[in-house]
Amino acid sequence: MPATRLDGKALAATMRAEVAAAAAARAAAGRRPPGLAAVIVGDNPASQVYVRNKHRACQDAGFASWVHTLPAATTQAELLALVARLNADPAVHGVLVQLPLPRQIDEGAVLRAVAPAKDVDCFHPENVGLLATGHPRYYPCTPHGVVQLLHRNGIATAGREVVVVGRSNIVGKPLALMLAQKPTAANPAGGDATVTVAHTRTRDLAAVCRRAEVLVAAAGVPGVVTPDMVAPGAAVVDVGTNSVGGKLVGDVHPAVADVAGFLSPVPGGVGPMTITMLLVNTLAAAG
Ligand code: GUN
Repeated sequence: MPATRLDGKALAATMRAEVAAAAAARAAAGRRPPGLAAVIVGDNPASQVYVRNKHRACQDAGFASWVHTLPAATTQAELLALVARLNADPAVHGVLVQLPLPRQIDEGAVLRAVAPAKDVDCFHPENVGLLATGHPRYYPCTPHGVVQLLHRNGIATAGREVVVVGRSNIVGKPLALMLAQKPTAANPAGGDATVTVAHTRTRDLAAVCRRAEVLVAAAGVPGVVTPDMVAPGAAVVDVGTNSVGGKLVGDVHPAVADVAGFLSPVPGGVGPMTITMLLVNTLAAAG
């Protein structure tokens, strides 16, 4: 029997309606809308699509949204000056600098310049530290999207074997932390798993993956998770966003659907959830 689809598009629509209702309640109370400022430097086509989607999602939820598009030759000082301006703007509750940045810019310096209270990506070291010590200010958007996709589809992680393939700062590392932690009010079912982080230097990746009751593919390698690497009935979450011949494909080979119990598709799985969690964080940032 083919795997049950973990429909991120449908869940994202439900959760965005919840966020929009909260934004409408703020407006009815005469409060200013939650506001997100996104900054994009250069003309990376994938980044342009992501930022456009974030902007649209904000507008649809009744948020204020600004997109600052800077040329590829922007200097670090110019970018830092814009971030400082957004940090000081009371209408802006969330500041997001889209990655990757052009090489002349020190990414770490820019991420450290975003005011931690406005860091709705949860990339600032202060927020990463708060997350790691179990006192999160925000959850990073993609990992939180994965956790919600599991939780709201009734897939438990407590006490179970979870394997995360990938150790990036954006996905693998924070997701492993969230899944291993004790549950919290904001992450009620996301934790208590036995988590293994696998990566390019893992010996016998297939054997490690087969241990997983929940397998998360976040390696950035198209189709790297093949059916022989999946235990029958496992829940598989595909975080891959690879462009192959102009088409968006995941890290999970399509034939995994014949083995897995649950599978999130690409597109229509984690992607819409990531943007939804950005809205959740921006609403929280607005207070
Ligand atoms: N580039 C790829 N994913 C992300 C993300 O979640 N946030 C930002 N700011 N840049 C990204």
